[in-house]
Amino acid sequence: MSNKIYIFDSTLRDGEQTPGARLNFDEKLEVARQLARLKVDVIEAGFPISSPGEFKAVREISRQVKGPAICALARCLPGDIDSAWEAIKDAEHPRIHVFLASSPIHMRYKLKQDPEACLHQAVEAVKYAKKFTSDIEYSPEDATRSDEQYLYRLLEQVIEAGATVINIPDTVGYALPEEFGALIRRLRENIPGMERVTLSVHCHNDLGLAVANSLAAIENGARQVECNINGIGERAGNAALEEIAVALYLKKSHYPFYTGLNLQEIYRTSRLVSKLTGIPVPMNKAVIGVNAFAHSSGIHQDGVLKHKETYEIIDAELIGGKAAQMILTARSGRHAVKHQLERLGFTLEEEQLETLYTRYLELADKKKEVYLEDLEALAIDFLFAAEPTYRLDYLQTVSGSKSIPVAVIRLIRDDGELIEEMAVGSGPIDAAFNAINKIAGLDILLDNYRLRAVTRGRDALGEVSLNMSLSKQKTITGRGTSTDIVEASVKAYLDGLNKLLKINGVNHNQPE
Ligand code: KIV
Ligand code: ZN
Repeated sequence: MSNKIYIFDSTLRDGEQTPGARLNFDEKLEVARQLARLKVDVIEAGFPISSPGEFKAVREISRQVKGPAICALARCLPGDIDSAWEAIKDAEHPRIHVFLASSPIHMRYKLKQDPEACLHQAVEAVKYAKKFTSDIEYSPEDATRSDEQYLYRLLEQVIEAGATVINIPDTVGYALPEEFGALIRRLRENIPGMERVTLSVHCHNDLGLAVANSLAAIENGARQVECNINGIGERAGNAALEEIAVALYLKKSHYPFYTGLNLQEIYRTSRLVSKLTGIPVPMNKAVIGVNAFAHSSGIHQDGVLKHKETYEIIDAELIGGKAAQMILTARSGRHAVKHQLERLGFTLEEEQLETLYTRYLELADKKKEVYLEDLEALAIDFLFAAEPTYRLDYLQTVSGSKSIPVAVIRLIRDDGELIEEMAVGSGPIDAAFNAINKIAGLDILLDNYRLRAVTRGRDALGEVSLNMSLSKQKTITGRGTSTDIVEASVKAYLDGLNKLLKINGVNHNQPE
């Protein structure tokens, strides 16, 4: 059996199922490009039948992103499989991933189908998908709550029908590492044909065991792990890619395996996914959280100063974390800024570079030291901002312990008209959002508001990301940065508003 562990990244599919983590077309493409730099083996780019936007993004990723196999998800239905194939047919290495539930609880209550009908449907779907491409992955959804004898029969037949990867999902994150490892071993030993296919696992984190279960599966014969950057995903998320990658690397003596990953790209991939999805990385997140390399107690600090390895098992350098602490200043020229942007993975046209450089200088004037993370936040803000219907022209807020918060806002509409409004609110940010709502004439629902400092210090850039929707329709993420947190909030709100206007095709002159 090979010692290579194939890394299947589902950040753009299962990861994007995280509540509030919607990505638009350009953002999906940028994440896919970065996953290719990280050198994952497979990118699960999406579920093409789910919406025209999803289909378009998967198709473009297939056309543009080279290196990893590009995989599309489909239910065991001909229409889903047709759509998956149409979306990935231009990929260098296309893969269709079909799934159908195999547990009694899912078959009885969700599918309302008996087990034999499900088995037949699965086999027919694999045969159907096989007409399009040789690389077919099959997943029995909720495998860990399925009858094992049924799984044996089902998987033997889907392998015979042409599946080349068999993926065992712990869909509801219910397994324990020992149980899951033993299940993987039994499946490998008892199913004829299993030696011809790649055995894969897909673990959810409902009990906080997704990474432990994935590692247990590897020890018992799994050679593909499905995982997501920052562990994002449905409910409590999926196994975190960075945790699996670093555990395999640091514990080589225990796991005699290797991956094709470029570990140096982990830090940047994590930040990019966090910024674009608006899902912050918890401070204490293993491997990638800001506290993962911070030492607080005196005894620990003393130990680390004397010899780093006393309390540090992971060097930030291993995952590309040190580079992010590089500092630029107002004296850094265009060339230096361009060079750092390229290191961050952004290739800009001359004109874009000029605009970004001007914004960089404005920021460098306000902050003494500009970190690479600041530059990255500026670049993301600039490159992924929605085509503006409204732009901020003027903002003034009043707040204090004894005054009613008031905001005055003037926006420039894309037809050139200047519109000014004033509103009160529970605080200056709420007042500013109310004033924007009055101008747009829309009833915007704000689900989530997050503010974080991009770097350290009192002059740090504030980064706001928020989730917004119109009358409970599709939720989008708006982003904005500024050294002034009220302005960062207004920028994020306007970014979100412009995206909502675009996707809903709302005529801004006509209130809803
Ligand atoms: O969790 C799950 O079962 C899935 C399947 C589609 C693989 O995401
Ligand atoms: Zn899943």
